Amino acid sequence: MSSVLYYYSATGNCLELSRRLAEAIGGTRLSPLAKFRNQTLKVERSSHAGFVFPVYAWGPPRSVEEFFARIDLSDVGYIYAVACCGGTACNTLPMVDRLLRSKGRGLDAGFIVRAPGYVEVDPQDPQAGLIEFVRLRSGPVARPVEERLPEIVRAVQERRKSPPERGAWFGSAVGGFLHRASLGQMRKLDSRYRVSEACDGCGICVRTCPRENIRLEGNRPLWNHDCDACGACATWCPKQAITQNTAVAAAGRHHAGVSLGDMLLRA
Ligand SMILES: Cc1cc2nc3c(=O)[nH]c(=O)nc-3n(C[C@H](O)[C@H](O)[C@H](O)COP(=O)(O)O)c2cc1C
Ligand code: SF4
Ligand code: SF4
Repeated sequence: MSSVLYYYSATGNCLELSRRLAEAIGGTRLSPLAKFRNQTLKVERSSHAGFVFPVYAWGPPRSVEEFFARIDLSDVGYIYAVACCGGTACNTLPMVDRLLRSKGRGLDAGFIVRAPGYVEVDPQDPQAGLIEFVRLRSGPVARPVEERLPEIVRAVQERRKSPPERGAWFGSAVGGFLHRASLGQMRKLDSRYRVSEACDGCGICVRTCPRENIRLEGNRPLWNHDCDACGACATWCPKQAITQNTAVAAAGRHHAGVSLGDMLLRA
């Protein structure tokens, strides 16, 4: 029986990880979950369904939460998720598990992995202290992708059940609280994004945005204040014309195995 793996990725880590997982597990189709924005999705009868996504502000990206709220997994044999982060995942996977359980079916397993990040924390921003505070109280940092991949593949192939992984309780509790508190603010962070004279109106930012949050007016991007703060627009702009001016911002780099063509979500 076939299986499917849905991913969300802005700087390429989760896409590359999804490719490697799908190849190693075998018989697995890959699909960007941003393609199902605002749609109710019933996953076809399959042996397993997987979800790979980053951690944003100590929890799942808003687009990922919305996707889980609309998906129907009732015909799926085994459900797993992988949260790919900079090291502090806190309660991201238990949050996803709770959300899915409220609709009748939770995660069978959830794994946290660490990947080299392509976003930077501004040390001058007041949030930098908060990020460090939570990190220091969240237990050991997640182990890197390279180390964890074989055990995750085995667990999925053998449909092994285990509780979703989480950070140490105090940091995770604080992170969970901050995640809920920051969701509304993150949405509007795009009011701090700036575009330079280097912009030539190519529209790549519009095509890579997972939330359809950018439109071009007079050949310049305008943001609609419905942002995930993912940094894809700034990362993939061929002219490096976008700066985010936020505590956590795109560094202008991405996973070497992922190219612009892989990231285009619409024509
Ligand atoms: C807005 C934002 C918030 C983030 N918050 C966290 C966080 O709370 N904990 C963490 O470990 N990593 C955090 N990260 C890092 C990402 O989870 C990490 O870089 C991830 O691998 C990105 O995946 P991608 O390359 O597929 O987009 C954050 C990144 C962004 C852009
Ligand atoms: S991707 Fe960059 S150059 Fe192209 S329209 Fe957007 S900001 Fe301008
Ligand atoms: S506007 Fe940029 S940062 Fe915001 S969701 Fe779209 S691509 Fe991500």
